[in-house]
Amino acid sequence: MSKIRWTVVTGASSGIGAELARVFAGIGHNLVLVARRRSKLEALAEELRASHGGAVEIIVADLNKQKGPQAVFDAVAELQIAPHTLVNSAGVGLAGEFVELPLDKQLDMMNLNMNALTKLCHLFLPGMLERGEGGVINLSSLAAFQAGPHMAVYYASKAFVLSLTEALHEEARPFGVTVTALCPGPTESEFPDTAGMGASKLFRGPLISAARVAQVGVEGYRAGHAIVSPGIANRFSAQIARLMPRFITRRLASTVNRG
Ligand SMILES: NC(=O)c1ccc[n+]([C@@H]2O[C@H](COP(=O)([O-])OP(=O)(O)OC[C@H]3O[C@@H](n4cnc5c(N)ncnc54)[C@H](OP(=O)(O)O)[C@@H]3O)[C@@H](O)[C@H]2O)c1
Repeated sequence: MSKIRWTVVTGASSGIGAELARVFAGIGHNLVLVARRRSKLEALAEELRASHGGAVEIIVADLNKQKGPQAVFDAVAELQIAPHTLVNSAGVGLAGEFVELPLDKQLDMMNLNMNALTKLCHLFLPGMLERGEGGVINLSSLAAFQAGPHMAVYYASKAFVLSLTEALHEEARPFGVTVTALCPGPTESEFPDTAGMGASKLFRGPLISAARVAQVGVEGYRAGHAIVSPGIANRFSAQIARLMPRFITRRLASTVNRG
């Protein structure tokens, strides 16, 4: 009989996080779904139990609260679950001029995108290293590969996630544990609206579906990759960003981020 594996997914109430939960349910994992909107988590939990028959728990938590990540870790321990995989998908964007956007909103975004993700990695990774299996998928972005005028702090937060994840990938690899940065380009989800990006050139083009991002992300993670960029055009963009002079990539980003 195969071992039951649990995956904890933050940001599971919508978009890429919800789709990642569906993909993990599809490969037989039990799920712990984390976000603030209880009704969305309950609806997804019901759907996954019905479609895949596995166990699904929900944890309603605000990861922007100082003790949010610790509360999630404690709640998972209380359920006597030793997660095989952690997915850090909770994250937000904020579009606009750096000096015009309220500083507290930008600091809150940094807290969620970077601090909460880092705390959750620090809390859950030791158990994984001890057990010598599983790992973490951190949601970075194509935004991580260049500076992003008109969305400056968001791009910087995703560069942090990419750098941290690559480093953790190497630290965890000798233990048989995989840490993967999932770096999607513009993707269908609630993100453009909550980030105030709906009118930007970036989100006017054809978008990749969150389901496709999740499928390719889980395949890359299971294959032990450090960085996964779903879609040929996105993989090409990530490579080009590395090769082009930085003044060009940041000006291109400036153009596409504008409304
Ligand atoms: N969509 C894109 O184009 C794109 C591209 C590259 C990378 N990404 C990254 O992918 C990740 C997922 O984004 P998405 O596109 O799926 O957007 P989304 O549909 O807006 O999902 C964001 C998720 O984060 C959760 N969340 C937000 N604030 C939270 C908080 N304080 N505490 C706990 N959970 C919180 C939301 O749930 P609640 O509101 O219920 O709490 C929601 O489940 C993000 O890290 C984003 O930066 C997105």
